[in-house]
Amino acid sequence: MTVRVGLIGCGFIGRFHSAAIRAVVSRQLLDVEYVAVCDENADRARSFARITGAEAITDAAEVIDSPDIDAVYICVPTADHKELVLRAADRGKHIFCEKPLATNLGDVEEMVAAVDAANVRAAVGLVLRHSPILTVLHELMQDATLGRLMTVVFRDDQFFPITGQYASDWRKDVAVAGAGTLLEHSIHDIDVLHWLAGPVRSVSGTTRNFAGHEGIEDLVVASLDFESGAQASLTSIWHSVIGRPSTRLIEVFFEKGLFHLDHDYLGPIHLQKHALSAETIPEEEVQRRYLQMLGLDAAEFEGMLRYSLEDYLFLKALTEDRAPFPDFHTALEAHRVVDAIYRSGEAGGPVVLL
Ligand SMILES: NC(=O)c1ccc[n+]([C@@H]2O[C@H](COP(=O)([O-])OP(=O)(O)OC[C@H]3O[C@@H](n4cnc5c(N)ncnc54)[C@H](O)[C@@H]3O)[C@@H](O)[C@H]2O)c1
Repeated sequence: MTVRVGLIGCGFIGRFHSAAIRAVVSRQLLDVEYVAVCDENADRARSFARITGAEAITDAAEVIDSPDIDAVYICVPTADHKELVLRAADRGKHIFCEKPLATNLGDVEEMVAAVDAANVRAAVGLVLRHSPILTVLHELMQDATLGRLMTVVFRDDQFFPITGQYASDWRKDVAVAGAGTLLEHSIHDIDVLHWLAGPVRSVSGTTRNFAGHEGIEDLVVASLDFESGAQASLTSIWHSVIGRPSTRLIEVFFEKGLFHLDHDYLGPIHLQKHALSAETIPEEEVQRRYLQMLGLDAAEFEGMLRYSLEDYLFLKALTEDRAPFPDFHTALEAHRVVDAIYRSGEAGGPVVLL
């Protein structure tokens, strides 16, 4: 069936989604129409409209209420997600909402309940679920000869995202962002850890605030205990090394093997198993395996590998009347863990997840 799309929020991440929707439409990959682009800043809406041919609108409610729109992308700063999601659910619109879903766990629970009650499709922008390197890593980790998973060492760092390509300063405002590097950025990492290592049983963590923006931590060191018996450590940093790209280092140790990654999307995977010497799966092979796992033709989809497949897969699910993934329930799990780490920091001890 045809899916008519409206995008709300023509900023940093809206640009990525808009380009991906355009690619899907212009290559006629799916039966999708790009109907409206919306930003409260009229110049931004107009600039997206010029490129996409979609109508420029400044009022998000007008987009959500439009009978000509089936699905909305919500790409505005975090504090505004809830109001728009609740409205979209009430109007029976399918939703793609950027992460984090909301500034606090209570709001996330309300949003999940609303989309469930309305029976609309609701996906979340936990884009690392579509990462080729992490998808191939996850597949490699299913090898039973590796023995039990012991630990994951996860380091995530980026410069404080209020300068450079982010060019907006709401991430230093606790009323809009909700918190700092753990909620705003490392919710991706928490979701990946859950994906790789299974449900989390308990956490402990500490937060620090070097830059001094009230309520916005820029360092988190957390430890996660999984139901499987494995453990993970996460260090999440917002520093001031402008010019260093956002990067993640992930080391996964099994009883009889280990994996090492210095990329979070495309790149080589280093591994060593049993008594064998270390080997490397090059980036091209990671890419080939990923597209093969998805059953996608390399020539047609190679150009969409970096970030656009997230939108292609979301829109494909809608056109086929299927549930998209990752969905709001996936996000809820990550929000529960994030919330528990903050509570641990406040209480000064471990927090058990129920
Ligand atoms: N998945 C990811 O990796 C990823 C990356 C970056 C941002 N994000 C998330 O996406 C969201 C947006 O972040 P961003 O970096 O694009 O922000 P941004 O500031 O670059 O863009 C937000 C845009 O929304 C507009 N806007 C704000 N409130 C609005 C409203 N009520 N109605 C219409 N327009 C409105 C602003 O004018 C701005 O153009 C945040 O929740 C952020 O956490 C996710």
